[in-house]
Amino acid sequence: MKDATKLTRIGRAHGEPGLVNPAIERASTVLFGAAGQLYNAPPGKTHYGRVGLSAQSALRDALSELQTGTHCALTPSGLAANTLAILTCVEAGGEVLAADNIYGPVRGFLLNTLPRFGVNTRFVSARIGAEIETQIRENTQAIVLESPGSLTMEIQDLRAIARIAQARGIATVIDDTWSAGLTLKPLELGIDYAAQALTKYPGGHSDVMMGAVLSRTEQQAQRLQQLERSMGYYVSPDDAFLVLRGLRTLDLRMKRSADSALMIADWLSARSEVGQIYHPARPDHRDHDLWTRDFSGACGLFSFSVPGWRLKQSETFLDGLDLFGIGYSWGGFESLAIHCDPQLRRSAEDDRHEGALIRLAIGMEDPSDLIADLENGFAAVAAG
Ligand SMILES: Cc1ncc(COP(=O)(O)O)c(C=O)c1O
Repeated sequence: MKDATKLTRIGRAHGEPGLVNPAIERASTVLFGAAGQLYNAPPGKTHYGRVGLSAQSALRDALSELQTGTHCALTPSGLAANTLAILTCVEAGGEVLAADNIYGPVRGFLLNTLPRFGVNTRFVSARIGAEIETQIRENTQAIVLESPGSLTMEIQDLRAIARIAQARGIATVIDDTWSAGLTLKPLELGIDYAAQALTKYPGGHSDVMMGAVLSRTEQQAQRLQQLERSMGYYVSPDDAFLVLRGLRTLDLRMKRSADSALMIADWLSARSEVGQIYHPARPDHRDHDLWTRDFSGACGLFSFSVPGWRLKQSETFLDGLDLFGIGYSWGGFESLAIHCDPQLRRSAEDDRHEGALIRLAIGMEDPSDLIADLENGFAAVAAG
């Protein structure tokens, strides 16, 4: 069955018979019929609200099926999904290798929080592949990836990294938010844990925050579930319902965003102000071949550089836009724009673009309106 069809079917077993969608059940206490069941719940029975009831179970099942995961842990944010996945893989005395383009707050967790528990991190090239082998040390426990990076869009060779990591007994984690688990199947490529911000495309309407971690093997499922339960992760039934509802139209929305984004990227590439377009689905992207090998489609998130600009021009450009909101996140129905330079951090390599870096998240608007809006932004900069 194709994913577009799957998205209409998955997770439906949890609804009341005759209803398409699951019930929103609010509960802490779940009552047992007899005292003998309290410490011996029948298989499949939820024993306490924190584990989640129909809506959360439906979402967990749906994501597991979409991504062929052995377990799906739901987390209160995408950041929490990444940190949970990483914690599942490490212990005191260990080391993490992390791609240099990972999401800033995940980088912050690796640098500021994990060392307190005896785990250090070294950063490696954002475009790493088989060369990861030369970076591995005796105490390397996990390799943390993000492909494409959500600001600078580098691609990692996931197949090569997974093969080497598996042979060396090292766990691999990917932040898979860009593909939403739809256009890339990291677990099928051999990556052990796929973390994503459901806040973005799966939620899709800028009204919910959530994350998920999917595991590849049964053994990894047990480790993930053990940590998820002992840390007390919980998401509300209302939020789970919203994400499940978003999943039903995920394929349609991502395709629409991706098509519009490519059209806008083409238009930008013809502008004299614009330097580089960072969009892996474009043939001029340096990792395009790798992207084509592993991904079945794109989304609406990409960046471009403007060699002649500094912070002031970037701000004038953003302030000159009307349809594009200025704000964090992406994957919603509305387009957003940010300037990236103040938040870029690199330590493994000095791979700086020329001038300013602007990131666009393309929503559901007609692309010709968005192009007209961008035209206004460029005009505002030209007017000084
Ligand atoms: C690539 C990526 N991963 C993770 C996150 C974190 O998601 P959340 O905002 O749900 O914590 C974000 C948020 O912008 C992101 O862009």
